[in-house]
Amino acid sequence: MNEAATLRDLKLAASAIAPQGCAVEAAGFGVDPFFLSEAERARIAGFAESRQEEFLAGRWCARQALAALGRSPGELLSDADGLPLWPAGVVGSITHCQGVAAAAVLPATDPETLLGLDLEKTNRLSLAASQRVLHSLETEFAGGDTVRASILFSLKEAFYKAQFRRWRTRGNFRDIALAVDFESGRGRVQYLSKQFDRGLTGSRFRFSLVGEYVLSFCF
Ligand SMILES: CC(C)(COP(=O)(O)OP(=O)(O)OC[C@H]1O[C@@H](n2cnc3c(N)ncnc32)[C@H](O)[C@@H]1OP(=O)(O)O)[C@@H](O)C(=O)NCCC(=O)NCCS
Repeated sequence: MNEAATLRDLKLAASAIAPQGCAVEAAGFGVDPFFLSEAERARIAGFAESRQEEFLAGRWCARQALAALGRSPGELLSDADGLPLWPAGVVGSITHCQGVAAAAVLPATDPETLLGLDLEKTNRLSLAASQRVLHSLETEFAGGDTVRASILFSLKEAFYKAQFRRWRTRGNFRDIALAVDFESGRGRVQYLSKQFDRGLTGSRFRFSLVGEYVLSFCF
């Protein structure tokens, strides 16, 4: 599949599984930096070229998603933990992976609104890495399959990002176990360690497989 088709399919897949009212965008690397503010330029000036590329593509997607919601794109800096400082009245999430970036933005005034987006390749997790990602409750679902382990990896990254804005809880991959239905692309929490807020057990999970990618939402 060529890049334009992959991006189109990723955006369609993201729109299909995003929470209602959410705007999404996907873009390849190689974005023209004309739209960056002075502060954003200063932030990436010392980054390696590949890191500049992913930052640019993610910011471009975020601008487009904000504009789709009728919000002034403005600048989008990050805090010391790497969390983007979204404008008041929206929550958002950015992801990038292997030359592709995506962003999702949702109108929200409740500080507990969750939105986490993640994109991963499904053919890159080694057996050792899979073992670090999987909780014992998930090994039957994964069944030694890299694609299924990658789905769990991506869903957990989406969860981490979604909860971080409000709770800033740090955890590892065995602090959460998900029950996933491969056919419907849905998941739910079946175990969550004590450091996470109990309300997060109701988090919703969606994923979609697009070519060699898995795209995941937690909301
Ligand atoms: C922060 C983290 C989730 C990023 O995931 P990743 O797959 O490495 O990278 P992605 O490309 O998908 O996402 C990167 C983007 O996430 C966003 N981000 C970074 N830190 C974040 C945080 N703490 N909370 C929410 N979003 C964050 C940023 O927008 C970043 O892109 P940018 O720097 O260009 O703005 C990951 O590096 C991490 O620290 N994970 C912690 C462990 C974990 O996931 N545990 C699982 C279950 S608790």
